[in-house]
Parts: sequence; C-alpha cells; structure tokens
Amino acid sequence: MTDALTAVGLHRTYRLPRRGPFEPGPIRTAVDGVDLVVPAGARLGIVGESGSGKSTLVRLLAGLEAPTAGTVTASGRPVVASASAAAMRWFRRETGVVFQDPYASLDPRMRVGQIVAEPLRAMRVPVSGSGSGSGSSHAGMVASALERVDLPSDAVDRYPHEFSGGQRQRIAIARAIVHGPRILFGDEPMSALDVVVRARVIELFHSLAAELGLTIVLVSHDIGVVQRLCDTIAVMSAGRIVEHGPVSLLDAPTHPVTRALVEAAPTLP
Ligand SMILES: Nc1ncnc2c1ncn2[C@@H]1O[C@H](COP(=O)(O)OP(=O)(O)OP(=O)(O)O)[C@@H](O)[C@H]1O
Ligand SMILES: [Mg+2]
Repeated sequence: MTDALTAVGLHRTYRLPRRGPFEPGPIRTAVDGVDLVVPAGARLGIVGESGSGKSTLVRLLAGLEAPTAGTVTASGRPVVASASAAAMRWFRRETGVVFQDPYASLDPRMRVGQIVAEPLRAMRVPVSGSGSGSGSSHAGMVASALERVDLPSDAVDRYPHEFSGGQRQRIAIARAIVHGPRILFGDEPMSALDVVVRARVIELFHSLAAELGLTIVLVSHDIGVVQRLCDTIAVMSAGRIVEHGPVSLLDAPTHPVTRALVEAAPTLP
C-alpha cells in the first residue's frame, strides 16, 4: 500500500500578542514533533483533549498552513502551503476539506450550485465530456456530487439559508468531493449536528469512503464517531501523538490519555 500522506518532524508554534511595549509575546507550541504516515485508503481518526493540537495538525497535513519545522509529503511530493496557487493545484485536486460549522463555511450570497462548483473553477478542473461550454460540463459534476450526498437536484438554484444544518453540512461535503479528491479531511464535521443527523452524516462518510476509495483524516472529540468511521486512531496530547494504532485500541486503552478520553466519553446505547 502506498502512503497518501507522510509527515516528518512537524512543529507549529504561534507567537501570541505582546504583553507590553518591550515584551515580545510568548510562543505557544501547538504541534510538537509529529511523525505520521497515513496509508492510502486508511481512515484515520485524530482524538485528544481540547487544545492538544488536532486542528493545527489537520491544517498542516491539508497544506492550509505551513509548519514551523518539518515536512508533509503526499504520494512522495512535497506539500508546500506557502507555494503559489498554481504550484499547489495538484495537491488541492487530491484533497477536500470539511469544517465544523456548516453555517460559517458556506457563503450565504452564493447559490448552492455556485458554492459546489467553486473548487472546480479555482482548481481549473478540465471540463469533462464533449460539451463545449464549461458551465454545462461542470454542472454535471455538481449534480453528481449533490446526488452523492443525497440532496435534491433543485438544490443548485437555492441558497444555503434555505437548508437545515444537516443539509448544509451535506452541501459542504459535496463541495469537498466535487473534484474527485483522494483524501478527505474533516475537522469536527459532525459536532454541530444533532445525534440523528450526525448518524446520517457518519453513514455518508462511510459510503463515500467505500465508493470513492477515499483516504479519510478526521478530527473528532467524539470517540463514538471515530469508532464508527475510522480504522486507525492517533491520540494527541500537548501537541504530540501519544498513541497511534488500530481503532480497537479504544476497546482496551492503555495509555493514560487514551484511557481518560474513553472514560470521559458517553456510552453509546
Ligand atoms: N492561530 C493561532 N494563534 C495562536 N495560538 C493558536 C492558534 N491556533 C492554535 N493555537 C493554539 O495551539 C494549541 C492547539 O490548538 P488546536 O486548535 O490545534 O487544538 P485542538 O486540539 O483542535 O482543540 P479543540 O478540540 O478545542 O478544537 C492551543 O493552545 C491553541 O490555543
Ligand atoms: Mg480543533
């Protein structure tokens, strides 16, 4: 199996605002030396207490932010977050990202059709089929992405505010997969949803992973979500991965951090 993503020696620090005119701001370490291999087709769940560096790690892996030190490679090619849009287009085409808040992540002034088509334009995805107008062929890709996430085809002409929270998260997922990525990143994509909708979105991730052969990197504070969706887990604490292995680790946790997370999790019915 080839590696979809490899991270070596990742560090990310932030300088916090200065405290006084002559005092530089303190440095906070968000990610503190992470080595990680994500094999193609793996479904990795990243768990850990709040502030342990999960979101920062995902931004580094997704090439949305540059590490202070260390490297990320995808299928052997370096991912350079600071490179130009043109230089990074190959990686953007291979990846899709879904964030937590389906309200904040969708532009309320754009119709759903435009929102979902946006990555195709930004990534200059070639129009498929024999149609001459770029609009028409992209429209086909948009329609099939909406169909994949179970949204009605008339959704294209409507605005995000006309949809429920769960439907909006489906719109965000359609946008993340419309260009046919190989890796799907999610940062708490289910946590704004109620339990019933959450279960349906978990199902959706499952079927997308199976049908499209996606590699999934999913941050969740919800152990139950990770148990249902992932085959591998990485447990973070204070910017480091303290435990990494099959998701069955959660059944009999040995590391104290993992044990604390499992014990704090509500038991599923
Ligand atoms: N842009 C930033 N500027 C300053 N500090 C930051 C920034 N982003 C993250 N941090 C700090 O880095 C640490 C890790 O943050 P991160 O958001 O990655 O944690 P997390 O595990 O995703 O937490 P949560 O579960 O609450 O989402 C925290 O101490 C946070 O305050
Ligand atoms: Mg976070």
